[in-house]
Amino acid sequence: MGSIWTAETEIRSREPLPGDMSVEAVVIGAGMAGILTAYYLQQAGISAAVLEADRIGSGQTKNTTAKITSQHNLIYDSLIRTWGSRTAERYARINEAAIGEYERLIQEKGIHCDFVRCPAFLYSRTEGASLKREAEAAVALGIKAVFETDSELPFSVAGVTRFDGQARFQPLRFLEKLSEEVTVYEQTRVLRAEEKLVETDRGCVRTEHIVFAAHFPFLNVPGYYFARMYQERSYVTALEGAGRLEGMYLGVDPDGLSFRPYGEFLLLGGGSHRTGVNRQAGRPAGKASQSRQKAFGMPERGCRYGWLREQARAFYPGCSEAAHWSAQDCMTLDGLPYIGRFSRRRPGWYVATGFGKWGMTTAMAGARILTALITGQECPEADIFSPQRHFTARAAKELLSHGAHTVKGLAKHLLPAENDRIIPNCPHMGCRLEWNPDEESYDCPCHGSRFDREGHLIDNPAQTDCRRRL
Ligand code: FES
Repeated sequence: MGSIWTAETEIRSREPLPGDMSVEAVVIGAGMAGILTAYYLQQAGISAAVLEADRIGSGQTKNTTAKITSQHNLIYDSLIRTWGSRTAERYARINEAAIGEYERLIQEKGIHCDFVRCPAFLYSRTEGASLKREAEAAVALGIKAVFETDSELPFSVAGVTRFDGQARFQPLRFLEKLSEEVTVYEQTRVLRAEEKLVETDRGCVRTEHIVFAAHFPFLNVPGYYFARMYQERSYVTALEGAGRLEGMYLGVDPDGLSFRPYGEFLLLGGGSHRTGVNRQAGRPAGKASQSRQKAFGMPERGCRYGWLREQARAFYPGCSEAAHWSAQDCMTLDGLPYIGRFSRRRPGWYVATGFGKWGMTTAMAGARILTALITGQECPEADIFSPQRHFTARAAKELLSHGAHTVKGLAKHLLPAENDRIIPNCPHMGCRLEWNPDEESYDCPCHGSRFDREGHLIDNPAQTDCRRRL
């Protein structure tokens, strides 16, 4: 089943690349980040062409819950302690500015996409101390935030952190209108990139600047993004008859849910886990994880939609499901996106990836940063997101965990398959794929590529279908 945005939006199709051509900038990927980047480049006088393997917005943009917010889980207290107040303040500023920039574009172009300003909340059912610290950190950085102990949620909370002046919208309607102002070639898969040449299955494009904005960079070298990023899946159900909420909510507890109103619907999300690892939140099912799953009723394997529906019935008896879908997010080692120069070895290449669960504000921030870098403008926020930034202690710890998953995935393809099922190996780097019963797909635990029952590619970084017959 597709997302609620897909069901109500039909974006006009575009022609594939007609053959060899030249353009000042090539943007790979026609999702929110790619279309915004191409738009701002054109505004700055740089001719840009977007190359899209499938259709506009057909990747992760169609699956977002479309919260436009600077509230990126518990981040500001941690940012201040890790990077200092100045960096944290810049992070807050560019994300707050992103909300305003969406509003400005929507008003200027008269885009009917249900843009609404509303508060965003973090909640916990078990403890309020971290939420209080987060609210204090946000206030110190200039965000309108407050800690409260009451909420409109259908259960009691230990506390909430409220950010005012945040927003939500219908992302595909926005993309539909903005993409009319940029040149997009659909059904054009990029196969290779070399210095100033992009090779596709429809022809080659000579260019000065290449922007990789197709979710997970498909090139392994240079950049090595496969070694410093993994992917997570999460699940959404759109409920009817669940009542109305004013704000958007995210739980910070291990079983935390996401609540987001849209018209007569309430989008209830959760069940996050590392792609290809069928356990809660991507954690190996050690003793602590198992007891947490038991305590909160989170399924260890599969049935995440079932679990979400149980939550929905418990909180909103009588509600019904109008749609359900899932999303896939790129997670970085230190929790900050990679936006900037792709690699020191490729001066004309740029990247925007690793947005975590915060694709809307980060896509806007990324588009503004990349446009500034390409046009040689000042951008004080660029350093924070630079893919070449130094390693933190958290990143080092995550690197070990990520490496362990990769080694396990690679080692597994040497072992006989469980239950006599023929499980294919991933064409990206050869890890053993795992069956995902929720989505009926084969998912890679190493870097998150996904394939349907027949082995057709769904999500990158792999670029090809599974060769082995399933
Ligand atoms: Fe890298 Fe599968 S996505 S090995």
